[in-house]
Amino acid sequence: MSDIKALESTYSIAILEAASLNDLEVVRLKALGKQGEISLLMKTLGKMSPEERKDKGVLFNDVRTKLSKNIEQKKADLATQALTARLVSETVDVSLPERPEEAGAIHPLTQAEYELTEIFRSMGFHVAEGPHIENDFNNFSALNIPPEHPAREEQDTFYLPKREKEGVDGKILKTMLLRTQTSPVQIRTMMKKKPPIRIVAPGRVYRSDYDQTHTPTFHQIEGLFIDRNIHMGHLKRCVTDFCRAFFELPELKLRFRPSFFPFTEPSAEIDIECNRRDGELILGESGDWLEVMGCGMVHPKVLENCGIDSNEYQGFAFGLGIERMAMLKYGIPDLRSFYDTDQRWLRHYGFSAFEALMGGAK
Ligand code: DAH
Repeated sequence: MSDIKALESTYSIAILEAASLNDLEVVRLKALGKQGEISLLMKTLGKMSPEERKDKGVLFNDVRTKLSKNIEQKKADLATQALTARLVSETVDVSLPERPEEAGAIHPLTQAEYELTEIFRSMGFHVAEGPHIENDFNNFSALNIPPEHPAREEQDTFYLPKREKEGVDGKILKTMLLRTQTSPVQIRTMMKKKPPIRIVAPGRVYRSDYDQTHTPTFHQIEGLFIDRNIHMGHLKRCVTDFCRAFFELPELKLRFRPSFFPFTEPSAEIDIECNRRDGELILGESGDWLEVMGCGMVHPKVLENCGIDSNEYQGFAFGLGIERMAMLKYGIPDLRSFYDTDQRWLRHYGFSAFEALMGGAK
């Protein structure tokens, strides 16, 4: 009698104190396993007198059932505890900021293109695109660039192997090339659409050139505005507003310097006011001038090449280098560094996605 009671209390405590499912299984085997103490005690029932067996049988069974139940209960408790512990240890706090070492960066070129197109968009321009592999007509002839123009020479242009194409009088050889400027997008747009036209075309261009200030690929943004009664005053207002917005200098002075482009007449290059102090370039301060873009009134021949009546319509165009604009605005000294894919450079000059959305405020 005292044996079974002693065993009951020993095992009840052991069950309660079991810290893991393994511990609990050890206790179960010791008490209720084949060779367990309770099981062995049950076996003694056979040798007892019927009287004694009746009393002790009930008692032993009760203890066995009770311990079994306790074990089951404890098992369930341990499982709940384990689940709670796992949930706590694996919780992800989604409100924490992202880990900086994993944050990517927006390349300054992407950022500059974004800022440029945003400004032009706000002035009512649409963004247009064209292919990088162009034909000779769109890249040169239609833009009034005669065959003897230096831009056509091999050292500037990447030509593709000539392809045969069916022409009116049989097979003709078609010259294809990697576009050397975004100006062919002007041609493509005017061929497709009737005026009024107001587009900017950002994109990659290619020239066979490599030194400190030239890379074989770079980026330009082209602007084209065609309508009735358009004159140089519209061009000046448009690019002045653009430069002041892009460089965030509301008083910035611009200089229109007469120049030459085959596709515009008259043509001009635009300089912005700047100053150099202790080797540093300060935009918007008087003293010196810095060239930022080319522009002009679209040449009547270009309009006619695209089927637009030059007596009825006029327009202006402009073109600028995106790398150059990014270098000036973000203070990047070396053009070639844009293409070095140097992680440290990108971390230094790159923009976070949030900054990019907010218009590049660093
Ligand atoms: N296409 C010229 C270049 O690559 C840039 C340019 C100058 C474009 C004047 C224009 C323009 O549309 O009007 O050098």
